[in-house]
Amino acid sequence: MGRTGIVFRVTRVVLCWRLSSGCCTILLRLTLESMHCGIRTGADMVTVRPFKKKDAERVSEVLIAAFKSFLKDLFDEKSAAHFHPDVLTKEAHVEDLFQVSRIFVAEENDTVVGVVKVTARPGGLGTFDYVGVDPDSHAHGIGSCLMARAVAFWTEHKQRKIDTCVSAHNKKAIMYYLKNDFIPEGYRRDHFRKGVDEIILGRFLKEDV
Ligand SMILES: CC(C)(COP(=O)(O)OP(=O)(O)OC[C@H]1O[C@@H](n2cnc3c(N)ncnc32)[C@H](O)[C@@H]1OP(=O)(O)O)[C@@H](O)C(=O)NCCC(=O)NCCS
Repeated sequence: MGRTGIVFRVTRVVLCWRLSSGCCTILLRLTLESMHCGIRTGADMVTVRPFKKKDAERVSEVLIAAFKSFLKDLFDEKSAAHFHPDVLTKEAHVEDLFQVSRIFVAEENDTVVGVVKVTARPGGLGTFDYVGVDPDSHAHGIGSCLMARAVAFWTEHKQRKIDTCVSAHNKKAIMYYLKNDFIPEGYRRDHFRKGVDEIILGRFLKEDV
């Protein structure tokens, strides 16, 4: 594996035309849609792009496998319902007065190998909702690519602080969050399920520190 850091490239430029008070204004909007991550885990580069409806089944598979990797038998049918393809399709692109949520996928050789869901809010308090990488592709830099896309999303939406949590026994994810500047802020016992405590984490975006 040649891991060379993360480099992103804007791959779509959208030209918007707007007619205002009789004159024509050209709005050039750079839209960060698809990003090439500067890692190679095999024959191909990893690309991070927005979720598409056709991804739903595979994204569901990846998230279930990723969460089973640390929750084992505690990941039951109720847990799996959150990652049902129909639920993911609904949650992949939410935009209302109170929040903007997106799901992004990491793709390698045309196969989805990782998923992240992120939220931004008008008040500047965003959320890292969840992340999951196919267990066969752990420790290849894919989680880092997804985190970089999440940071670009929050920056684009001018977020001040990001909130998330991690199961207290999930060592890999704890290391992942600490490496990405999340700091423990609290502790919840038996929170989502009995027998699994959660560590509350927060990250201030760099410009605000
Ligand atoms: C947490 C997770 C997303 C990390 O993704 P990944 O692609 O394996 O991560 P990367 O290869 O980009 O590594 C990023 C950092 O994570 C940490 N990490 C990754 N694998 C690790 C391991 N086996 N042991 C300890 N730390 C590890 C390290 O800090 C690593 O940085 P480094 O390579 O400089 O040491 C992945 O392990 C996963 O999907 N876990 C199951 C789902 C989950 O726990 N989600 C979080 C709860 S929402």
